[in-house]
Amino acid sequence: MEAERTPLIAGNWKMYKTVSEAVKTAEALVNQIADVTGVDVMIAPPFTALASVAAVLKDSTVALGAQNLHWESEGAFTGEISAVMLLSTGCTHVIIGHSERRQYFGETDETVNQRIRTALQNRLVPVMCIGESEAERDAGETFNVLDKQLQKGLKGFVSDDLTPLVVAYEPVWAIGTGKTATTEQAQEAHKFIRLQVEKKFGNKLANSTRILYGGSVKPGNIDELMTMPDVDGALVGGASLDASVFSQIVGYRK
Ligand code: PGA
Repeated sequence: MEAERTPLIAGNWKMYKTVSEAVKTAEALVNQIADVTGVDVMIAPPFTALASVAAVLKDSTVALGAQNLHWESEGAFTGEISAVMLLSTGCTHVIIGHSERRQYFGETDETVNQRIRTALQNRLVPVMCIGESEAERDAGETFNVLDKQLQKGLKGFVSDDLTPLVVAYEPVWAIGTGKTATTEQAQEAHKFIRLQVEKKFGNKLANSTRILYGGSVKPGNIDELMTMPDVDGALVGGASLDASVFSQIVGYRK
């Protein structure tokens, strides 16, 4: 099921970079990818650097994303950040349900669902992360896990609510480990995800949903990953921290 989907290469900076480091990296990135066409680019710096990085990205095509948001619009939620606050910095995208949030900070499919709802209501593009652990893969549970995360995370929505939707398939065992899923494993999972979206929401949404692969993406493996029909881009962690390395990924061989 191949369709016209503009690839999206997204950088997740996690808990790295001070404001000045983030600004420098963003400036270098904007310069280095100035000539790249046909691919959407997004970077998600830490909250503290969003406003400053937004100023750097202002006249570029690089989109700004956050790494999380809270579902309430405001309130006594110490340490949390709202959609309106993200919008006020210039964010257009938000990563939701990253496996590190699920693993260390109590994120569940239910809270993922709430965050996606709030993101969409505020016209922030949700980048919904799903993926199986190594034990789940070894137990042959990969598809069940992906199905459950999709069903619960997208519960209560109809197709129109979810435009635009980005899903990031990130096998937990491949994140930051140097182990990458084979292109075949990635394609198999992406195809399955698209099929589930189609079953639940129909062909139109399934065809327009961009499914990114994440987990040790590097300049050396992006070309092959991007040849797969259901791989519509990448969510890049470690290799997005250096502008020249990330630029190589953005400029992958098409
Ligand atoms: P990695 O991280 O590229 O460092 O494996 C990917 C991610 O966590 O989004």
